[in-house]
Amino acid sequence: MSEPLRIGVVGCGNIADAYVRHIGKAPELLVHGVTDLKPERADELAGKYGFQTYAGLEEMLEDDRVQLIVNLTIHHAHYEVTRRCLEAGRHVYSEKPLAMSHKQAQELVDLARVQSVRLACAPITFMGEAQQTAWKIIREGRLGAVRVAYAEVNWGRIETWHPAPEPFYDVGPLFDVGVYPLTLLTTIFGPARLVTAYGKLLYPQRVRTDGIPYQVSTPDFQMLMVEFDDGPLVRLTSNFYVSQRTQEAGIAFHGDQGSLRLGHWFMYDAPVAFAPYGEPFEEVPLVRPASPGVEWQRGLVDMAHAICEGRPHRVTGEQAAHVVEIMCAATEGMASQRAVRLSSTFTPPAPMEWALDGMSDEGISKIVKEVGNE
Ligand SMILES: NC(=O)c1ccc[n+]([C@@H]2O[C@H](COP(=O)([O-])OP(=O)(O)OC[C@H]3O[C@@H](n4cnc5c(N)ncnc54)[C@H](O)[C@@H]3O)[C@@H](O)[C@H]2O)c1
Repeated sequence: MSEPLRIGVVGCGNIADAYVRHIGKAPELLVHGVTDLKPERADELAGKYGFQTYAGLEEMLEDDRVQLIVNLTIHHAHYEVTRRCLEAGRHVYSEKPLAMSHKQAQELVDLARVQSVRLACAPITFMGEAQQTAWKIIREGRLGAVRVAYAEVNWGRIETWHPAPEPFYDVGPLFDVGVYPLTLLTTIFGPARLVTAYGKLLYPQRVRTDGIPYQVSTPDFQMLMVEFDDGPLVRLTSNFYVSQRTQEAGIAFHGDQGSLRLGHWFMYDAPVAFAPYGEPFEEVPLVRPASPGVEWQRGLVDMAHAICEGRPHRVTGEQAAHVVEIMCAATEGMASQRAVRLSSTFTPPAPMEWALDGMSDEGISKIVKEVGNE
């Protein structure tokens, strides 16, 4: 790449610092400027890193040097901000979820296609070393057919660390964090077909970090059964009550020949362990050493290369829209107490190049062919 991809960041809240710091490590990317509804937040971030600030999104979009917008606004604002950026002919990378309804998510996917720009949406944690290792072991058939997976999202009490927890409770644990294992599971197994769900409010009286009490009115505990077209039956538990220190936040995959335990769906350096059927787990080495936690820039780096090379990027709006459909079906199912059938589809991303080692040429060419058909 001769020139870095020039990025505008919209939303300078809690997660923005980690994003811009990680983006700063990638020579393919350059943060050009930032903006926020609260100008003091944009000023603070810009002052720390020497970025330009814009008075608002429209001013940012008037600057032709900004090629891609990173949307780090809060959940309910994602759709409007992303739509406006796509209309203005910019590539967009949004934080999750892509939108709060499947109709809106699909509208964004269609708009990006019409505008011939790229649309991507977090989470990108399927790109991590631990997650790619787990996927490789499943792809290589060491578990045989995988028929059951248990995914745990015990995300604790947001109000004990986030200064503005209300939007997180407004959308609930599934839309905020259940989206992580759902994105990883759809990466590995492709589109899902049927969702059955249950939700309950366990702990309504909360207290913010500033000591102000407030009342949660949406379910803080959600449980889903998800059936995949071509994969396992998944039981996913998401809640804002149980701490991951006292209950795991990982995924267990169970197949005819064995089981695989991915210690975390978020951390790139999570432990991965394999057990032949009925035997104890033994940890397996990751496909390559992992940096701790998450590299927030990884999806953007892939996008920059994909744009340059004219190939599909891995973190797609299509997949994110399908995940939104799963979550909306769950919300509908919780209200109606009925299973909800899904209709959307997408092409799963290619594994990372560094996770293909050890696969047969035939296996690699099959993956490349499938992704090329997108
Ligand atoms: N905080 C985390 O640890 C974390 C981790 C992963 C992902 N995320 C995701 O990142 C997003 C942001 O989370 P956060 O914790 O930074 O939230 P936050 O509330 O701390 O920050 C959001 C910022 O967006 C601004 N904003 C809202 N609407 C806007 C608009 N229309 N135009 C411009 N600015 C607008 C707000 O003023 C605020 O400063 C969420 O979607 C969340 O799911 C957060």
